[in-house]
Amino acid sequence: MSSHVLQADKSVVTTSVALVSALALLATVLFLVAALIGVISRVAPDDGSRKQAAVIERIRPVARATTALPKPAGTEVKLTGQEVYNKVCIACHAAGVMGAPKVGSKELWEPRLTQGLTGLVNNAVAGIRTMPAKGGDPSLTEANLKDTIVYMLDQTGLKADAAAK
Ligand code: HEC
Repeated sequence: MSSHVLQADKSVVTTSVALVSALALLATVLFLVAALIGVISRVAPDDGSRKQAAVIERIRPVARATTALPKPAGTEVKLTGQEVYNKVCIACHAAGVMGAPKVGSKELWEPRLTQGLTGLVNNAVAGIRTMPAKGGDPSLTEANLKDTIVYMLDQTGLKADAAAK
């Protein structure tokens, strides 16, 4: 065997020893950390409630989304027809989206008004063809819709009372 080969063997052995030592050191550190965690968790007696709390924490939904607006304490705020219109109906009824009768256009509203205010309200509540029920806002009441339609007719220059006769 030449000395060159011996030299190579030696370096392989040295590397292996270093590797094994490193692994042993790592194992020791991990063992100590584990032992430390064990000590810390034993400080407070565990009756299972902490585990339960941890599970509850883990399965807790990441976020809670709600469409419900916080209700002011005591009084229920009733939106006016104008407020509802600006909040919901304006999206379609200002420009006439999807064939919605435009506010301000007598020609478009007059034929619809022949069925009376009640008919308009019923159709707006239930939805009519491409118009979604309650304009797509289920939080609105029938009274909201009535107020809003009266407001829309008023803005158009039509009297709701006239049709209600
Ligand atoms: C997504 C668009 C959209 C929104 C938002 C919307 N509407 Fe409409 N609305 C329409 C369309 C389209 C029509 C026409 C439907 C048809 O006759 O084909 C219509 C028709 C109506 C009519 C006439 C019904 C009839 O009997 O002829 C009334 C009244 C009305 N809307 C009220 C409202 C009110 C009040 C709101 C708000 C709360 C509202 N709309 C929100 C699209 C909308």
